[in-house]
Amino acid sequence: MTEKFATTCVHAGQEPDGLTGAVVPPIHLATTYAQETPGHHHGFEYSRTDNPTRHALETVLGALEGGTHALAFASGLAAETTLLMTLKPGDHVVTVDDLYGGTHRLFDRVFATHGISTTAVDARDPGEVARAWTPATVMCWIESPTNPLLKIMDIPRIAETVHAHGGVCVVDNTFATPVLQQPLTLGADVVVHSATKYLGGHSDVVGGALITNNAELAEKLRFLQNAAGAVPSPFDCWLLMRGIKTLALRVEHQNASAARIADWLASARGVARVLYPGLPHHEGHELVSALWKGRGGAMISFELVREANTDVFFRSLTTITCAESLGAVESLIELPAAMTHGAMPRDQREALGITDHLVRLSVGIEDPSDLIEDLSQALQAALHNASERS
Ligand SMILES: Cc1ncc(COP(=O)(O)O)c(C=O)c1O
Repeated sequence: MTEKFATTCVHAGQEPDGLTGAVVPPIHLATTYAQETPGHHHGFEYSRTDNPTRHALETVLGALEGGTHALAFASGLAAETTLLMTLKPGDHVVTVDDLYGGTHRLFDRVFATHGISTTAVDARDPGEVARAWTPATVMCWIESPTNPLLKIMDIPRIAETVHAHGGVCVVDNTFATPVLQQPLTLGADVVVHSATKYLGGHSDVVGGALITNNAELAEKLRFLQNAAGAVPSPFDCWLLMRGIKTLALRVEHQNASAARIADWLASARGVARVLYPGLPHHEGHELVSALWKGRGGAMISFELVREANTDVFFRSLTTITCAESLGAVESLIELPAAMTHGAMPRDQREALGITDHLVRLSVGIEDPSDLIEDLSQALQAALHNASERS
């Protein structure tokens, strides 16, 4: 019998404890493990190298993404750093042009100083990836959907292009989640997660993950996980497992709510345009229909009309919280130009379409009618106070 995804979320790596029968994996806080004689132990030596709670988390992470090897890290960026440590000076990476800002900063201000260069392309056309490829290119790093413009990538075609050039195809699956898309099954070699978002799901734990079916790469990553040491604490691993138990439930509900909210926003007064892959006019709609197991995800970006006062809009929201981050049970909203993408130069931001009126909404698990009511009254207030400077 092939286990269904929601069952995997609850059970993978989480059998009742062999000693006590406890149905929840214990939090193993011990930093070191007794050895019968030097070198003879029960599978664990030192907690940075391996830890039973982390091991359980890594088992479920692998199962979620259909990967044979999974590694957990202290944050999404710690996972990314460890993956990039497999490269050497002189290597080149092709990335997408609206990459998550922190990933861009990691490439641009950390790994560039270690001799790793990048070229950012609009990978919606996989031909752009091929054109940017050089003899030094070893990796292509994409997100789908991107943030905050929710551009959709053709992962199978990009992976094919990357493999034709002998490279490694990395997909950051934080926004889509394995509920909607499993990049390894679409041809990618490595999946990256900021587990801080949907996997944890409750805005209370920072974590990251790498998942792959490539045993040779996994061995290098396992070495680096221990050698560089960016591991999560046992308590954080336990919190992530607790979050993952409800991943399918949460994301399916959030996906359905987001679709309803996007439909409503599409004709709401005060909204100039809606970016949501589940809407038929979205340019990635066909790909999403073919590749995803859900209508359009739980992230919506939309632009307020020029006359709307954005400050009043944000101040008027009562159920939806203005905050960075995403993927949690509570709905979060932000203004990328001033928050997540504030460090990007204005001309670059505007060239991409990240205007001062573009809003990004992460739909939570609240009743969608309450969220629509909240958005509706805040839009009315923003239009009413159009004269006040925003
Ligand atoms: C798409 C994406 N990847 C990676 C990260 C980095 O993860 P973390 O904040 O857990 O280090 C983030 C964080 O916002 C993200 O949105």
